[in-house]
Amino acid sequence: MNQPTLASLGPAVQTTSLHSLPLIARGKVRDLYAVGADRMLMVASDRLSAFDVVMKAPVPGKGRLLTEMALFWFDLLKHTVPNHLSGEAPESVVAADEVAQVQGRSMLVKRLTPLPCEAVVRGYVVGSGWKEYSKSGTVCGIPMPAGLAMTTPLAQPIFTPATKAAVGDHDENISFAQLEALLGAVRAAEVRDTAIRIYTAARDYAATRGIVIADTKFEFGLDEHGTLTLMDEVLTPDSSRFWLADELAQGRIVALDKQPLRDWLASTGVTGGAEQAALDLPESVILGVHERYARAHRLLCSSPAGAAA
Ligand SMILES: Nc1ncnc2c1ncn2[C@@H]1O[C@H](COP(=O)(O)OP(=O)(O)OP(=O)(O)O)[C@@H](O)[C@H]1O
Ligand SMILES: [Mg+2]
Repeated sequence: MNQPTLASLGPAVQTTSLHSLPLIARGKVRDLYAVGADRMLMVASDRLSAFDVVMKAPVPGKGRLLTEMALFWFDLLKHTVPNHLSGEAPESVVAADEVAQVQGRSMLVKRLTPLPCEAVVRGYVVGSGWKEYSKSGTVCGIPMPAGLAMTTPLAQPIFTPATKAAVGDHDENISFAQLEALLGAVRAAEVRDTAIRIYTAARDYAATRGIVIADTKFEFGLDEHGTLTLMDEVLTPDSSRFWLADELAQGRIVALDKQPLRDWLASTGVTGGAEQAALDLPESVILGVHERYARAHRLLCSSPAGAAA
């Protein structure tokens, strides 16, 4: 098979511009448009962020892969947790000449009141958790057993909330007590228990597809009745660590997520800061991101016959 080239992936969507709907905001990845007072069109662009900075070069097709994965999980988990999908087609709320911009990369969702936290669940100790564990034997202040390796599954997944930082800021880990102070004890416990329940269901499914979900981040909002509702995107390589199970069984971490990009950036001396925004990623790096995301999508979301890859 020929090596794919960037051109073979087709055009990328860096920024959308819909004239028929008011723009609410552009996130790092998604463009958000208001649909009346109570709904929102979330369009996933092909923008790529790392260390909370948007890269100059987009990854063609990434927004579609993310959207398909999130929709797949919302459906799989719909009996476990209510989600923000309105059930209507995104194409139905834009003008005819805008359909191409939104098709396959959008969700028409209920506009919720976001909870001011990120609900992180970890089944392994890696990333910032590993740094802390190496120093103090804790992860987000939670004492952990001695002698863990990054490849050791935790006996029970742990819930490690973070604040939802304002634009341009980094999310910060907080203790469960701080989450209780933010949300109230009852809501904090509900967020924790729900996040662990969804992670566990997703992890068990992914295991049947040869993928280990090492950790992930959920976002929740409240609907008009105060019901806790899963929102944003879920269980994508942007918000999760996906590892190949076969490799992990051999003691190796092979990631189908953003980590190889972070490692590559770190190897060039970039670990955060605005200078990254100007960074032009080489074609091979962009293709690598696409290949890993597409492989995660294929393994997790295709019919079992199509997943062998
Ligand atoms: N149903 C919803 N109702 C209200 N807000 C939502 C809903 N779903 C997702 N969001 C918010 O929409 C934004 C999605 O855009 P994107 O993921 O690009 O943002 P981001 O760069 O991660 O920004 P942020 O730093 O605010 O999380 C997020 O701020 C997310 O919290
Ligand atoms: Mg986001």
